[in-house]
Amino acid sequence: MTELKQYQDFYDPHFATMQKVMDQVLRFLAGIKEQDTKIYEYCIHRIKSPESMKQKLLNKELEVTSSNALLEITDGVGIRIICAFLDDVYAVVDQIKSNPEWQLLKNKDYIAKPKPNGYRSYHLVILVDTDTITIPVEIQIRTISQDSWANLEHQMKYKKEITNRELIQQELKRCADEFASTDVSMQTIRELIMEFDSE
Ligand code: GTP
Ligand code: MG
Repeated sequence: MTELKQYQDFYDPHFATMQKVMDQVLRFLAGIKEQDTKIYEYCIHRIKSPESMKQKLLNKELEVTSSNALLEITDGVGIRIICAFLDDVYAVVDQIKSNPEWQLLKNKDYIAKPKPNGYRSYHLVILVDTDTITIPVEIQIRTISQDSWANLEHQMKYKKEITNRELIQQELKRCADEFASTDVSMQTIRELIMEFDSE
């Protein structure tokens, strides 16, 4: 079976709607970048693979159905936006929140309040209405350094055989804090440069 067919079967009859909703959010994001080319660097998107959605439903002791996948799990459709500077993260968040067509289900600022392991990112879950179903979309907005950190930390989680996990976690936490302080410095330096508004 092709990968596409697996997704279609798993999310049946909602797969096309999920894609439509994802495109709608991506078009909105392309629009805000047209207004302000520096507001973010790039975004990535995905529909959660049937395998990991199934696992998530089972972990929550929910029946594996496409409606549970879209009503009970909020990251079936996921978009991640990567920004160069901290202020840009908040500018993107404001733009998303100001779209009157979307309802806000979740709003978590893990930059102001990082997780104990050092994870930083801004998370939103928006609800997008369609004719047939309301689809949640998880949007993660983070800086480049927060993104590289999260990607490395994620890799560690998947290595079950790691023996020196505690040391690695300590080092990751140290890097998260160093990145955080550099992100603040970079923001300040940008403001110093921006004071001179000539070309
Ligand atoms: P799930 O973790 O998705 O079950 O939902 P939740 O309600 O706990 O939401 P949370 O905001 O904690 O996390 C949502 C998503 O953010 C996760 O699926 C990951 O993609 C990402 N995330 C959260 N915490 C971490 C973390 O400590 N490390 C990394 N690498 N990613 C994280
Ligand atoms: Mg979590």
